[in-house]
Amino acid sequence: MILVVGGAGYIGSHCVKELVKERSVIVLDNLSTGHFWAIDEKAIFIEGDLRDEKVVEKIFLSYKIDAVMHFAANSLVSESVNNPIKYYENNVAGTLNLLKQMVKHNINNFIFSSTAAVYGIPKENVITEESFTNPINPYGKSKLMIEEMLRDFQSAYGLNYVVFRYFNAAGAHSSKEIGEDHEPETHLIPLILQHLLGKREKIKVFGTDYDTLDGTCIRDYIHVTDIAIAHILGLDALLYKRIDNNIYNLGNGHGYSVKDIIDMCERVTGKKATIEYESRRIGDPARLIASSKKIREQLGWETEYNLNKIIETAWEWHINKNLNKILK
Ligand code: UFG
Repeated sequence: MILVVGGAGYIGSHCVKELVKERSVIVLDNLSTGHFWAIDEKAIFIEGDLRDEKVVEKIFLSYKIDAVMHFAANSLVSESVNNPIKYYENNVAGTLNLLKQMVKHNINNFIFSSTAAVYGIPKENVITEESFTNPINPYGKSKLMIEEMLRDFQSAYGLNYVVFRYFNAAGAHSSKEIGEDHEPETHLIPLILQHLLGKREKIKVFGTDYDTLDGTCIRDYIHVTDIAIAHILGLDALLYKRIDNNIYNLGNGHGYSVKDIIDMCERVTGKKATIEYESRRIGDPARLIASSKKIREQLGWETEYNLNKIIETAWEWHINKNLNKILK
């Protein structure tokens, strides 16, 4: 049985959809940012907070857990700058509590959601797992602290772990049942699509003077189901002892500028965006592109979704969600 902490959130709920095909799954989520409706009905759901020792302990006493996947975190860069307590409390202290209970109950397999934000402003055009880590905001720092905690837990208690550093997760499940649904929404693709659906007046472009071809920031967009598949591969490798503790980047290896993304959204939807150019957003590196060679070579991971398909699935989900709201 697999415990998925944060299984009601965007990436967690997509991983649960893949996991339930082959395994029994328990989701622990406090529903602070996740949604009850996003949890696959084949999973057992427990509403609770990972900082609550009693809740976590009860799960470990009641079920035979083979591995824990941990997606539950606050993940807004600007919020983390203004409210670091929230990030060190929820992300770092919360994870410490979870890991303490795992050690106590002798549960040794852990899969952790980390982020490209651990690299800060990288020097390389394409980032490998060996690239220097130097996070520039509390969100990235909180994730890097946990990665370091995992190394210490490995050597002291024999915890086995896989860390995935996500680049820009995007897109939606092919069923159109779940997708990216944050409140407030700050991510580029859902903001553009909401605008093209008529739910926002315009789309703002933050910064046109970056050292990139068209002056806007470049990111590596990776489909959320491709991320989920990486978790399945990581889990199998951990459970069947095919890998040691490892860190993997998850990206497509292609960089797209903010303008590229707007163009692609216009093409996919057949609608024209109203754009407003603004100054840079604080803390945005000019370019983040992943090398995911390591996971491709070691775990045989292949991505299925290119940018066009990422935006198509996201658009289908937005339309479907809108339709359901109108029908209700
Ligand atoms: N952007 C705009 N207008 C918007 C929103 C975003 O121009 O309205 C730009 C941003 O400035 C950035 C790009 O679009 O250049 C992508 O922004 P997102 O907010 O969609 O994603 P980020 O790259 O900022 O964030 C992602 C993850 C974070 C993670 C970070 C690592 O969502 O969790 O990558 O750098 F920390």
